[in-house]
Amino acid sequence: MRLQGVATAQALVPSAARGRAVVAIDTLRAATTAAVALSAGARAVWPVAGVDEAFALRDRLPSAVLGGERGMRAIQGFDAGNSPRDYLASLVRGREVVLTTTNGTLALARAHTAKDVAFAGLTTAPLAATWLLAQEIEEALIVMSGTDGHFSYEDALTAGAIAAGLPDVELDDLLLTAIAAFKARRRELALALRTTPHGKRLIDAGFEADIDLAARLGRGRVLPVRDGRQKSRLIAWRHP
Ligand code: MLT
Repeated sequence: MRLQGVATAQALVPSAARGRAVVAIDTLRAATTAAVALSAGARAVWPVAGVDEAFALRDRLPSAVLGGERGMRAIQGFDAGNSPRDYLASLVRGREVVLTTTNGTLALARAHTAKDVAFAGLTTAPLAATWLLAQEIEEALIVMSGTDGHFSYEDALTAGAIAAGLPDVELDDLLLTAIAAFKARRRELALALRTTPHGKRLIDAGFEADIDLAARLGRGRVLPVRDGRQKSRLIAWRHP
C-alpha cells in the first residue's frame, strides 16, 4: 500500500481522494468524540460542516442529538458540545448524532469522493491501522484536519501512530516525520497534547479532562467509518 499524508483539511483536494481509502484525523477532539458517541450506543454520527446544515438535518431526524462546537464551546440550541464527556449512553443510546465541528467535520466533507473513509484519533489509531489493511487497497491518504488551515502536532501524533502500525507500506516524508514524532512521545502522549496550541486553548477553556481522554492510545473500542449504504453518516466498525 502507498500511504500519503495530507497536512490540513483544507489541503485535501477532493479529486485526490477519489478511489482511495481516507483516514481523517482530528485528535482534539471530534474524532475522539465520534468514537465515544458510537461506543456509548449511538446508532450513527452525521458529520456536517455548518451550523445551519446541522439544524436542517436535525429537522429531518427529529430524534437526533445535535452536537458540536464553535470556538470549542457548545453551540446555542444544541444538546451537546464537542466534549467526549457529553456523549453518555443516557443521552445517545439508540439515537443518531448530528455533529458539526470547526475542522474535523470539514476534513470528512472534503473526503466525500473517497472510496472508504474512517475518522480517527489516538484512541482509535490501532483500529484505524487494522481498518486500512482490511480495505485491501493500493492507495490511501491520512488527512490531518489541523486547526483553521494550520498543521496540528496532535494530528501528526495520531498519523504517526497509525502509520507505525502498518507493515510493508510506502510512506511519504510527512508520514515518516509523523512516525518519528509519535515514537518520540508515545510514552507521554497526554503531556505532548497539553503542550500544543490547541491543547493549551482547551485547558484555558476548562476542557483539560478531554485531553486525557483523547491521549488514551488504543483504548477506543469502535472506529467511526462511513456507512457503505448511507454515505453521509459514520457508523461503528469493530475489529473483525
Ligand atoms: C475541531 O473539529 O475543530 C475540534 O474538534 C475542535 C474542538 O476541540 O472542539
